[in-house]
Amino acid sequence: MRISVFGLGYVGCVSAACFCDLGHEVWGIDVDPGKVDFIRKGQSPIVEEGLGDLIAKYSRAGTLHGTTSVAEAIANTEVSLICVGTPSLESGALNIEYVQRVAMEIGAAMKECGHRHMVIVRSTMLPGTTRREVLPRLEAASGMKEGKDFFLAYNPEFLREGSAIKDFYEPPKTVVGGFRRETAEQAAAIYAKLTAPLFLAGIEEAEMVKYADNVFHAVKIVFGNEIGAVAKPLGVDSHRVMEIFCADTKLNLSPYYLKPGFAFGGSCLPKDVRALSSRARELNIKTPMLFSLMEANREHVQRAVKMIQSFGKKKIGLLGLAFKAGTDDLRESPMVELVEILLGKGYQIKIYDKNVSLARLVGANRKFIETVLPHLAELLCPTTDEILNHAEVIIVANPDRDFPPVLQKAKPDQIIFDLVHIFPEPPRKENYHGFCW
Ligand SMILES: NC(=O)c1ccc[n+]([C@@H]2O[C@H](COP(=O)([O-])OP(=O)(O)OC[C@H]3O[C@@H](n4cnc5c(N)ncnc54)[C@H](O)[C@@H]3O)[C@@H](O)[C@H]2O)c1
Repeated sequence: MRISVFGLGYVGCVSAACFCDLGHEVWGIDVDPGKVDFIRKGQSPIVEEGLGDLIAKYSRAGTLHGTTSVAEAIANTEVSLICVGTPSLESGALNIEYVQRVAMEIGAAMKECGHRHMVIVRSTMLPGTTRREVLPRLEAASGMKEGKDFFLAYNPEFLREGSAIKDFYEPPKTVVGGFRRETAEQAAAIYAKLTAPLFLAGIEEAEMVKYADNVFHAVKIVFGNEIGAVAKPLGVDSHRVMEIFCADTKLNLSPYYLKPGFAFGGSCLPKDVRALSSRARELNIKTPMLFSLMEANREHVQRAVKMIQSFGKKKIGLLGLAFKAGTDDLRESPMVELVEILLGKGYQIKIYDKNVSLARLVGANRKFIETVLPHLAELLCPTTDEILNHAEVIIVANPDRDFPPVLQKAKPDQIIFDLVHIFPEPPRKENYHGFCW
């Protein structure tokens, strides 16, 4: 294929050289003539292991070109990769002016080029930016329609500076988003020779994946550092701790606990987060991430309350009360907290949880209910039919396998508010509301 690469920074230079290496012919474009000159001379404008050799090789071979002319690049190629910078503004917001400008320039050149072009955005941009900022500019400047006269895709870049070339050939994954599956497939063809797992997605999903990835990497680093910061004054070897931690691929380094759902609770997580935070405070160690966890969790419950308020109904049926399915443990169940808040706001609540019945509760659970939610007995129903007969809003609070058939029986005017993503494919019905999806 013949490919234009817009922006000869870290991503653009590595992409340009590596796509040549995959057998494509590449035109590298930058507004900075100095960078273009480097490419023309067969030199790398940036420091990155192995890049200089690749640029020299393909510049000599005549398959890597440098130009400042957008028209020349578009006329010679079928695919354009947008790799321009998206730096932070002073406010922290994303500066997308370079992407906006390059979209206008590519659009104007497409108008003249006489063949159908594929534009693939690789710059990191917040979800919605391709649709709202790039698409209309390409269409306005070209006078063409996406999906008919040209195609647009979003393909996040996962390379790490310092190991960028290796990462290009062995990425953790390739993600390509398109407005249609065929467009994403077509765009993914540029990676045909790579073996990384390929994920075709919607444009916004592909945009968001990049943020989920990078923010998670930041979370991991801060987490490891905060564990180390608390471990050291306690005389604990944090590297040994994290070695053992990382060896747990069931609960720790795994998809477990990473699916958006309701707040955490139960008899362990809140207690243990509080205990470690409290010890850090005693030691006068500032661990903002650790300190923020309980607050973030409370905020998540408040988010659910706000959504329930937005439905404008007062009769609530709660399916599930314990902090997870298959247990009667109500200690620090965030559902109990939710019920308490809603009762305080005058909601009429009925609850069904087959594992929870006051008669059966003993010990710590019974005491918890008696002190935290004394009127629980009046709210508990023995059958789901009572919930269906009472509720204007049915809240699904744990993923009990018995609940989907109950929800199938809900009337169209009964709102289903799902806190736990109970359906593998959430129904596209007007009365269904997923909490964070
Ligand atoms: N650097 C990384 O490791 C990395 C990794 C993954 C994703 N990203 C993302 O990729 C994008 C590019 O990052 P980078 O580090 O390569 O940026 P960079 O700042 O190093 O390079 C951007 C280049 O774009 C050029 N440019 C600006 N406007 C242009 C235009 N209209 N036409 C042609 N060229 C233009 C600039 O002159 C510059 O050379 C960013 O969105 C970044 O967040 C970067």
